[in-house]
Amino acid sequence: MPAASARKILVTSALPYANGSLHLGHLLEQVQTDIWVRFQKSRGHQCTYVCADDAHGTAIMLTAEQQGITAQQQIDNMHAEHSRDSADFLIGFDNFYTTHSDENRAFSNQIYTRLRDNGHIAVREITQAFDPERQLFLSDRYIKGTCPRCKTADQYGDNCESCGATYSPAELIDAVSALSGATPIDKDSEHYFFTLPAFADMLKEWTASGTLQPQIANKLGEWLEAGLQEWDISRDAPYFGFEIPDAPGKYFYVWLDAPIGYMASHQNLCNRTGDDFDSYWNKDSSAELYHFIGKDIINFHGLFWPAMLTSADYRTPSAIFVHGFLTVNGTKMSKSRGTFIKARTYLDHLDPEYLRYYFAAKLSGAVDDIDLNLEDFVQRVNSDVVGKVVNIASRCAGFLRKRFDNQLSEHCAEPDMVQSFIAAGDDIAQLYEAREFNKAIREIIALADRANQYIDEKKPWVLAREEGKEAEVHEVCSVGINLFRMLLVYLKPVLPAMAERSETFLQVSLDWNTNPQPLVGHQINDFIPLMTRIEAAQVEAVVAASAEQQNAASQAAAVPVATETATETEAADNTITYDDFAKVELRIAEIVAAETVEGADKLLCLTLNLGDSQRQVFAGIRQAYPQPQTLVGKMTVCVANLAARKMRFGVSEGMVLAAGPGGENIYLLEPHAGATPGMLVK
Ligand code: MSP
Ligand code: ZN
Repeated sequence: MPAASARKILVTSALPYANGSLHLGHLLEQVQTDIWVRFQKSRGHQCTYVCADDAHGTAIMLTAEQQGITAQQQIDNMHAEHSRDSADFLIGFDNFYTTHSDENRAFSNQIYTRLRDNGHIAVREITQAFDPERQLFLSDRYIKGTCPRCKTADQYGDNCESCGATYSPAELIDAVSALSGATPIDKDSEHYFFTLPAFADMLKEWTASGTLQPQIANKLGEWLEAGLQEWDISRDAPYFGFEIPDAPGKYFYVWLDAPIGYMASHQNLCNRTGDDFDSYWNKDSSAELYHFIGKDIINFHGLFWPAMLTSADYRTPSAIFVHGFLTVNGTKMSKSRGTFIKARTYLDHLDPEYLRYYFAAKLSGAVDDIDLNLEDFVQRVNSDVVGKVVNIASRCAGFLRKRFDNQLSEHCAEPDMVQSFIAAGDDIAQLYEAREFNKAIREIIALADRANQYIDEKKPWVLAREEGKEAEVHEVCSVGINLFRMLLVYLKPVLPAMAERSETFLQVSLDWNTNPQPLVGHQINDFIPLMTRIEAAQVEAVVAASAEQQNAASQAAAVPVATETATETEAADNTITYDDFAKVELRIAEIVAAETVEGADKLLCLTLNLGDSQRQVFAGIRQAYPQPQTLVGKMTVCVANLAARKMRFGVSEGMVLAAGPGGENIYLLEPHAGATPGMLVK
């Protein structure tokens, strides 16, 4: 039962698109939110954490189409996958719902109707590019053509990847639909707009109220100064989403109903728990409402959303908590470098708490990007968590078990020291509250250093060999255990599973809320391994597996489809011309050597003879060919003009062709007898 002083807090993470797997960037956000929520709960507050999949939009519709499944199947599959991934990272959602729900439809209709009745919806005709073959309007990302500036072919809608120019799709030379290849035509259609400029004053006040991070308040301030535009909230059929109640054939733009999905998820939870939804969302609610989001979506959360809520007579968020982007080894996550790491790929090889700890050690309340440096990751987790924190318990536990039946001393030998560890909790709590997790971790690790120093000075292993020092050994180790206990109270929001194991070991619940007294005469359990060291090979395996997914994706010639705000995936029709095919230089290759690759259990390193040259190629076929030497002397087909790629293990200078779904079921292509190394395949 929460105390009378308990705060009522509702917290959200941004709703991931139901269009692809979660990656470590998503996890940065969910881990940040989850740590904060667990912290609030541990302090006795009534804190609720809701999220959902963002299930609407053109991209999801097209992905489903391409896979030959319905949009409903696509979003159901993703919901199951996302739920599992988050749960395995110990993300403690109180509800993980979907925007394609009855509750969300009802709220979207209600809010839209209120906006309309308040005179905040404008309807007018606009002209847009339209694909006459596919019969749908094309957003910028679905239009390709030649850059008007540098004349590079095959550039997307609004900017050129080659020269960096930005332009409108109308300026592209020979523009075509990326979906069908047809030349887009201009077509008029009625669109619905939310009259955002009517909220300029309200937004100026809201953004300057002091609750936003300064960087975010500034950015929003700049946009407000520059002047707001009306926001287009409708899309024409075909679209996967909610039809606008009074406008048949028109759908809410995905970003209209996505934030409403926060409410819908919360309502769905309240229906189950009996909690009072209105007391969180009505205008004079005293509950706190926080949205954790990445820096790419602040316009939606800092402008559109508070304006919509205001027009529809709901409360506005207490704050939005914006974080930066995750980079890996100092650069944007890269598919070809194997640093675009999916949640599941990580989980296949590594304990989620390693990453939770590393993120915590790096996250602050600011909007800076966070770098996952893989070497630093291994080093940091091993040294802090295993080498310092767990070490305190493991050093003391052996003596307590062997000599004192796992019973702590009746008397606390260092009450001041234990008390200072307890007192440190206030500072640490303030840092958690302010999302300065990196500083909280620094304080906790400084305490761990003090605890280790204490044990180093007392040297129980020396005392244990001396006559008459039995009581002292007992007291020193008991102090050690008490110090360890406090550290785990403070680390519990970050490391909930390790804290749970520690609770079993210590036979005490690690509650921040109940002001702890030193444990004396207390019975503990035998020590259990609380966390093991990360091996570098595990991290290498994650990188190799991620690089292979990329290989597999390109081998299967899968055509990724753009997400609504995507930057790295692209849409394309999968028919190619002969000229496109002719660009690929396929040659017969003789496998002259095939070796396993240390640290990559899915890769083989092949040496290929192409007649006039030799190449080294890494192929993800090890599981299918557990005895690589059997490949030596065989012929296969190699892509000879593929750009060389630097991998962790060396440079890969091409690609061999194989069929099959993967794992043990991969079959290398082999030409009929007579083909010789270097022959062109056409
Ligand atoms: N569906 C929208 C959000 C709707 S909220 C009403 C969306 N989805 S997303 O899947 O693209 O991103 C979900 C969240 O993950 C966003 O807050 C986004 O900023 C965050 N991240 C996605 N990639 C990220 C990194 N590489 N690093 C950190 N966060 C990133 O946007
Ligand atoms: Zn260009």
